[in-house]
Amino acid sequence: MYNIKIEKTTNPKPLPTEDNPLLFGTIFTDHMFEVDYTEGQGWHDPRVVPFHDLELSPASMVFHYGQEMFEGLKAYRTDDKRILLFRPDKNIERANNSNARLMIPEIPAELFLEGIKTVVKVDEAWIPTKEGTSLYVRPFVIATDPFLGVRPSHTYKFMIILSPVGAYYPEGLDPVKIWIEDQYVRAVRGGIGEAKTGGNYVASMAAQVKAHEEGYSQVLWLDGVERKYIEEVGAMNIFFKINGTVVTPMLNGSILPGVTRNTCIELCKSWGLPVEERRVSVDELEEAAKNGTLEEVWGTGTAAVISPVGHLRYEDDVFQIKDGGIGEISQKLYDTVTGIQLGRLEDKYGWTVEVK
Ligand code: COI
Repeated sequence: MYNIKIEKTTNPKPLPTEDNPLLFGTIFTDHMFEVDYTEGQGWHDPRVVPFHDLELSPASMVFHYGQEMFEGLKAYRTDDKRILLFRPDKNIERANNSNARLMIPEIPAELFLEGIKTVVKVDEAWIPTKEGTSLYVRPFVIATDPFLGVRPSHTYKFMIILSPVGAYYPEGLDPVKIWIEDQYVRAVRGGIGEAKTGGNYVASMAAQVKAHEEGYSQVLWLDGVERKYIEEVGAMNIFFKINGTVVTPMLNGSILPGVTRNTCIELCKSWGLPVEERRVSVDELEEAAKNGTLEEVWGTGTAAVISPVGHLRYEDDVFQIKDGGIGEISQKLYDTVTGIQLGRLEDKYGWTVEVK
């Protein structure tokens, strides 16, 4: 048990009204969690405080060398008024794997989970209940040494902020159009592609803007060496159903190990579907699209949940996936994942964790 101090705001903001569309990542709750790290002392002074701007030295290392890690998970309000988290242990494990790669000190799992639970409980009134909404939880660490040399920082700040959200894509559950990028790359093996850190996202922005201008929602990345094998979409992992088999790129060191990715693999296997984690080349996809065996494509992510893909563009070719609508497995995965998250379906796997 950590002694997390709680200081409540004296100036609460109005809660979003029922008709607020809760555009992803635009509204923040009244409180946040904070804990500091000092070399020799470890993590200290965990607290929940009013949501506030930060005062940092402009020389803080995070601004110059990007030493930071972030995570994303969600809290859900069940019909019987409980609050559930979905597989927070997976996010905490991944956070500490990212920390290890980024030379950020490990955050004790119990402190991490208690921090999430405490701040979610304090701001529980902010958990939205409309279909398709949830409270997005964003834990993140920044390097705070005021120093311009390149080395790991000796001080850090770990924070958790909360945001009531609706769908990540404006399309909701309508299929999105995806641009297979052949010019820029996101990550290479041995780099930081499998760590959840801002650098991977800034690397994706130039291609994302280009794709948006062409009318595509997201970029699908190819491997950084041969530019031949499918990796991931910037905000989600990717799945294909090819001739009855569910196929997803294997984790190779440059792909983010998604929690929803792992959940979908487990669910598809439990339904008796053949699942392959392996290399998938863009040529194989093109061929499958042409001969009619590319039956479904969907993305998976905490923010995106299950996001069906209706069109893929590669070089000058555009492939429509079947009739461009949502596929049977994508719909079943969406219903099952959200059903478990909201406590409406039996949680056979012990994936949900009760906050209250
Ligand atoms: C998430 O799905 O939680 C993410 O962190 C992706 C982010 C780009 C919104």
